[in-house]
Formats: sequence, structure tokens, C-alpha cells
Amino acid sequence: MPHVHICEVGPRDGLQNAHHLMPTEAKKAWIAALAAAGLREIEVGSFVPPKLIPAMADTAESVSFATTLPGVKVVALAPNLKGFQRALQAGAHKVTFPVSASRLHSEANVRMTPEQMVEEVRKCAAHPHPGVEIEGAVSTAFGCTMQGVVPEDDVVRIAAALAEFCDCVALADTVGYANPAQIRKLFRKVKSEIGGKLEAAHLHNTRGLGLANALAAYEEGVRHFDSSMGGRGGCPFAPGASGNVITEDLVFMFEAMGVRTGIDLDKLMAARKLMVEAIPQEPTYGHFALAGVPKGFRAAA
Ligand code: COA
Ligand code: ZN
Repeated sequence: MPHVHICEVGPRDGLQNAHHLMPTEAKKAWIAALAAAGLREIEVGSFVPPKLIPAMADTAESVSFATTLPGVKVVALAPNLKGFQRALQAGAHKVTFPVSASRLHSEANVRMTPEQMVEEVRKCAAHPHPGVEIEGAVSTAFGCTMQGVVPEDDVVRIAAALAEFCDCVALADTVGYANPAQIRKLFRKVKSEIGGKLEAAHLHNTRGLGLANALAAYEEGVRHFDSSMGGRGGCPFAPGASGNVITEDLVFMFEAMGVRTGIDLDKLMAARKLMVEAIPQEPTYGHFALAGVPKGFRAAA
């Protein structure tokens, strides 16, 4: 059993603001390569209006393909009941809802206030969804490029509301404003309100603190992390947002520390190659990919 669970969000967060479309067949091959590398949770797309984010137009096909990969939990993002129904129809195993703690970001992203969005997720949770997990992700939990400071109490209030009807709750640093001290403080505070329902850390690397923040969250007891291959990504409706914490570097960090991820670094690099070949024009990041495996390196046993 892995010690930490990593959800690869590249096919969703990584592609949603890319300037180029990844062809559906290439996307499927990449998703299969991610699964072959040992990723047991993959966020393969979002059910949003295709006009709004053309890169996500083929999400139903990505979901139904990914459900054929043994042992993979297939995740999709939905912003409303219509998206949730599309996700259920396609066969997603888990659906994540972005509920921004910043009013300005929420209105820009989903055209709803945070309170309206909580009610939308409540409506989805009340809709029959046998066997499908619902995650409430509190976005801009550590600050917002439009609003600036996001009060911790707003995050706690939204997380507590979501915990009433979601299976799990995540805290997301959508625009890469968090620092390790803040991560510790807020995860601790939210955990004291909602306990084990607080699950994942969704971190962006905009200011280079992605790994430091992931480590702080790990030390605070977090065992579920979202990350994106090649550090691609960012919310198209959050000005200044850039890519997530880099999957390859995150896996390397944990494995080097003796913390099992269940992910094979060589196969992960093979998946990265497929991703880069599919849309070579997009910037790709990663220290592990540049520097390679240290001499004498041993993965966690
Ligand atoms: N999937 C597909 N189509 C959808 C949809 C969904 N989830 N939700 C709404 N639509 C369609 C409606 O049917 C309607 O179609 P029509 O014009 O043919 O009648 C149209 O989109 C507008 O619907 P409306 O309910 O008025 O939506 P909106 O324009 O107020 O937009 C959201 C609201 C939530 C759908 C939109 O803001 C959104 O998708 N946001 C998510 C953005 C995102 O992906 N951010 C990054 C990830 S956090
Ligand atoms: Zn994100």
C-alpha cells in the first residue's frame, strides 16, 4: 500500500488553459501511460461547457476510456448539476467541485457566489449517485489574485458546509499564494472542524513553493495530493494562475524520503515524454526531469 496517494490532474488542470489542444487519442495514450506508471487516481477532465473550455470537450470519452484501466479511480471536475449528470453518465468514479472561498474568483469561475456554489454542490449530493464519490475543493483557500487575502474563517465555514454532504474536502492553493507556515495553520484549523473529511492538498507552484507546501501538508498529516505532470496547468479564470506542483518532483521527493507513492519514476518519465510529444509547444517544468536519478538512489521500499 502506498503511504501517500497522488492524483494526477494534468489531463484536467494541466490542459484547461493550454494554448493548444491535445488530440483525444494522444490524451488517451497519455492517461494509459500514467496508469501504467502506477497512478491510481487520475483527473481526466472537466464537464464544463465545451465553448468555455474547448480542451475539455472530449471529457466523456476520456472518462469512459479511463474506466477501462484496471485499478484507476477516474476523477472529473464539474461546476454544476448539469456537469455532475454528464460525469455520472460517462461513468466517473469521483467528481470534484470547485468552491472558491474568494467571492470574486467564484463569480469569475462559476458565475456563482461561494454560497450559491455550496448550494449547487448540495443539490448534486442529493441527486442519486450510487458508488460515486463527491469531493468539495475549497479553491483560493490561501489567497486570490483578485481579492487578495482570503480570510481563514471563510475557508473554514465553506469546508464545514461542504463536509455536511461531500465524501471528502480538499484545500486548493489555486494561484500559488501559500507558504508552508500558512499550509500548516489552515490544514490544522480545518481539520479541527471537519476531521477526517479533510483529505487532499491541491497545490500550485506559481512561486516555487509547491514542494515545500506539500511537505508541510504531509507533516500535518495530509496523505492525498493533487499534482500535474510537467507542472502544467492553472485556472483560466484566475488571473496569474500557473501550473500545479510537479508530479515527477513530488514523487521523487516522497520516494527519496522513504515514503511510498506506488509510482515508478522511469515509467512516469515515459508518460511525460508522451505528454510533451502530444503538445510540444506548451512549457514543461520539472527539476527531476532535468537532473535525473541521483547515483545510488533507491525508491521507497
Ligand atoms: N456542461 C455543458 N454545458 C453546460 C454546463 C455543463 N456543466 N452547464 C451549463 N451548460 C450550458 C447550458 O445548458 C447553457 O447552454 P445553452 O446556451 O445552449 O442553453 C449554457 O451552458 C449556459 O448555461 P448557464 O447555466 O447559464 O451557465 P453559465 O453561463 O452561467 O456558466 C458554469 C456557469 C458553471 C457552467 C461555467 O461558469 C463553468 O463551466 N465554469 C467552470 C470553469 C472552469 O472549468 N474553471 C476551471 C476549473 S476550476
Ligand atoms: Zn488547480
